[in-house]
Amino acid sequence: MTAQSKLSQNLRPVEIVVRQPRLDYTSVPKYWFDNDPFLSTLFSVFSATLPEGEKQFIHSLRHFQKQITDPVLQKEVRAFIGQEAHHARQHEFFNDRLQELGYEVTELQRIMSELFDRLRSELSPQRQLAMTVCIEHFTAMMASFFLVKRPEIADQLVGASRDIWVWHVIEEMEHKAVAFDVYDQLANDPGRIRLRLTMVIVTAMMTGRLSWHTYKVLKANGESRNFKSIRNGLKFVFGKGGMMRSMSREYLDFFKRDFHPWQHDTRREMEQWKAAYHELLD
Ligand SMILES: [Fe+2]
Ligand SMILES: [Fe+2]
Repeated sequence: MTAQSKLSQNLRPVEIVVRQPRLDYTSVPKYWFDNDPFLSTLFSVFSATLPEGEKQFIHSLRHFQKQITDPVLQKEVRAFIGQEAHHARQHEFFNDRLQELGYEVTELQRIMSELFDRLRSELSPQRQLAMTVCIEHFTAMMASFFLVKRPEIADQLVGASRDIWVWHVIEEMEHKAVAFDVYDQLANDPGRIRLRLTMVIVTAMMTGRLSWHTYKVLKANGESRNFKSIRNGLKFVFGKGGMMRSMSREYLDFFKRDFHPWQHDTRREMEQWKAAYHELLD
């Protein structure tokens, strides 16, 4: 067993629970994120990428499922698959509402579907799993940003849009080490060279695609010259205390030789959120 696996065993702190919250998006308003066009568009675009992305995470783990000998990790992988399957389904419902509200998300969902079809046919199972590990680190960093560093943001989301993100990011925290542990145990990547390289590629792909589609949807909705909202949104993403700066240390930690996701210990905050939202999560 590697050092990372041992760390994961010692810190295996969290039960990964598959939940199916009942959510109804019919009253989600157009500017569901802080009544702001830019932020609502950016996270609507992000939501559009999720169903196909999460199906791909499941696909990439399933390939290795039979080779896992650790029974705890086996159980965690099953729970991971259950959680991601429900995330994908709920984000499809949420995306339907976003489309109704005037966000062009179905086109991006189709593009993502084609992209993952191509990646599945061109990349080896190990490279697909490396991509999953890297994107899972992004979702864990975002979860930590929302739940640990800027918990007040949840209050800026309206109704069921708050519920879907709170539920989703709590579960992203719960399962943040699962894909990593599978990779650590089964991928043949000495020194994690390939994993680190994949992180660089994934970062460029994700930021490029999200930026381009956010611009396209803003433009289509007549908001691409709403400078007040764009300034506010860019501050949220790049400003002091913003998403990028808050995530920078955790991002760089990924490149350390002995990195493991649970080195960022978010258990206490996660339990607080679970207690606060127990009605949603029960
Ligand atoms: Fe997810
Ligand atoms: Fe995830």
